[in-house]
Amino acid sequence: MSATVTATAAAKKVFSDRINRIEVSATMAITAEALRLKAQGVDLADFGAGEPHFATPQHIKQAAIEAIEKNFTRYTAVAGIPEVRKAIVDRHAADFGSDYTPEECVFTTGGKLALFNAIQVLVDHGDEVILPVPYWVSFKDIIQYAGGTPVFVEAKESEGFRITAAMIEGAITPKTKAIILNTPSNPSGAVVSPADLEAIVRLAHAKQIYLLLDECYVYLNFTGASVSGGSFTDCKEHLIVLGSLSKTYAMTGWRAGYALGPKSIISAMSKLQSQSTSNTASMVQRASIAALTGSQECVAEMRADYLRLRDRVLDGFKNIPGLTCTVPQGAFYVYPNVSSFFGKGGVTSAADLAAKLLSEAHVVVVPGEAFGTTDHIRLSYAVSQDTIDKGVQRIREYLATLK
Ligand SMILES: Cc1ncc(COP(=O)(O)O)c(C=O)c1O
Repeated sequence: MSATVTATAAAKKVFSDRINRIEVSATMAITAEALRLKAQGVDLADFGAGEPHFATPQHIKQAAIEAIEKNFTRYTAVAGIPEVRKAIVDRHAADFGSDYTPEECVFTTGGKLALFNAIQVLVDHGDEVILPVPYWVSFKDIIQYAGGTPVFVEAKESEGFRITAAMIEGAITPKTKAIILNTPSNPSGAVVSPADLEAIVRLAHAKQIYLLLDECYVYLNFTGASVSGGSFTDCKEHLIVLGSLSKTYAMTGWRAGYALGPKSIISAMSKLQSQSTSNTASMVQRASIAALTGSQECVAEMRADYLRLRDRVLDGFKNIPGLTCTVPQGAFYVYPNVSSFFGKGGVTSAADLAAKLLSEAHVVVVPGEAFGTTDHIRLSYAVSQDTIDKGVQRIREYLATLK
């Protein structure tokens, strides 16, 4: 009897199909090795993490401290208190001319959850989701977790990795349910031109396809022409804007993000959230109000600093023969092409080069394979100038040894 029970139990599968459809982040191995080396006291030049090196501005921290001291520490409405939703839609309207109401906004535990929930409520098995390549790591897995099929659109490096409306249109089929667009882009720093952005918003609306517009880096745009899809208010019905306070206000650890979209979709996302995380931490909501309604000077200051750091890295790269790099127009990443080193010094791929840069030059970079391309590595330049100078020199010296 007990032998039968054991046999039956052994035959039962442990994991759901949906968890088997996704992979752990491709950056995990590098991160684990970097942590091991750091723990041994190795001095790393770390360009791995995609997060600001700045501290969260003081007035934002103060708002959270006050919230705690005033015992603003209980559950709130799942989608966020009315004040935070109003602060989000007012900020967006002031900066981009959008016209969302607080009911068309849900506050989420980070921008990643806004994306995750939006995909879960929209995408079913068999649905196609158009995804430009290179893509931010999580997009592909989140689509697959929902049962959707990513349809890749390859950005051209020769065009600065810029995505155009024509490229998106060419990938539309009767099965297309959604398009994910991230501009400025992680990892390439490419910015969709204002004309193409408008054309993509209008195309999605005309074809009744949902455009999930990831505006995580919308305030880190160096072109001087910062536009949001939300500006095209007559196309709201098929647009979901995904926002985050993480990079704009140096708040990655606070987990503060949001979605703006049609009321019915925002309600469905809130319903899902009500059965998972519930509200984002109450004091984070208060801190976010301070971020969104306070002076925006800190945002401009950080942006100016990122631009300076970008130019510092690109200047350093000019002295590395064999390495080429498009000029990023936003975010805080560079995405150089390293394929001329393949086959030299035993280097077989970008992933292999990233592993060797870590073990032999003590430089942390993320291989392009994580973002869907094979010839590149990603460096985050949200680091100190000293780290840039030290790291770029180490890369130059290491690459010079490859024959
Ligand atoms: C393109 C993009 N979207 C969304 C996110 C999510 O940011 P968060 O969940 O910290 O708000 C990130 C973070 O790296 C990102 O790079």
